[in-house]
Amino acid sequence: MKKLMTVVVLGGVALVAGCSDIQSSRDLANPNLSGKQLAEQVCSFCHGAQGNSIDAQFPRLAGQQPQYLTEQLKAFRSHGRSDPKATQYMWGIARSLTDNQIAELASYYYGQIPTHGAPTNTTLVAEGDKIFHNGIPATNVPPCFACHGADGHGHDNFPRIASQHANYIIKQLHVIKYTDERPQAAIMKGVAHGLDDEQIRAVATYLSGQS
Ligand code: HEC
Ligand code: HEC
Repeated sequence: MKKLMTVVVLGGVALVAGCSDIQSSRDLANPNLSGKQLAEQVCSFCHGAQGNSIDAQFPRLAGQQPQYLTEQLKAFRSHGRSDPKATQYMWGIARSLTDNQIAELASYYYGQIPTHGAPTNTTLVAEGDKIFHNGIPATNVPPCFACHGADGHGHDNFPRIASQHANYIIKQLHVIKYTDERPQAAIMKGVAHGLDDEQIRAVATYLSGQS
């Protein structure tokens, strides 16, 4: 992951040090590259081979819903999703993607087999399991599965949250709860507001271990 530290974003253009990486940043502006080529030559640096990233600051994309992926990539391209990490990393990446490349990337990642973590804190996992399936009636949090599907695999624009990195889930729940940097997630705001930090950590830990 050290190599990633050499990525700097200048005026929305990602400049990456190292020969093969420079090749990749040039590829981003080539509309003839397929989604698969982009995924393998560019996105994999951060999101891992087949979209199974190692570092939790980069979300896992394997098995993610194609409609959700498409909407997020368009939101990065139009600057509609604007938390600092999205701005720093994904605006430059998405700026020259064509609609066709976005559709191909979405179907590529949906077709990859997700790997998942193995959380060891059984108390947190059990608490998270309860939140996922029952919600938290006292603070009007609906069960997550009602929108994200029985196994957390998502559908349409409801993202897959099963097998995602716990720290990425924690981060996004904070973004949604405390900021307006993800306006498309308005429906999640009420959910996030009913969760305290301990409950967020529990449900994130539970989800990270689900296949
Ligand atoms: C230099 C690192 C880097 C590269 C290269 C990169 N990404 Fe990202 N990507 C990120 C980071 C960091 C985030 C998380 C942003 C946040 O915290 O909101 C992200 C988020 C995303 C998301 C949102 C996922 C979700 O669960 O909401 C999608 C989709 C995505 N990237 C697709 C891609 C695609 C497709 C490519 C290649 C064309 C790519 N990324 C290349 C760093 C990168
Ligand atoms: C009423 C429907 C609904 C419920 C209930 C719901 N979600 Fe969501 N959630 C969504 C939608 C829709 C999005 C995608 C928003 C967007 O497009 O940005 C989302 C996004 C998310 C994300 C961001 C995913 C990513 O890859 O960045 C996380 C994490 C999340 N939800 C976790 C949860 C958890 C945990 C629960 C249960 C406590 C829950 N959600 C309950 C509808 C819901």
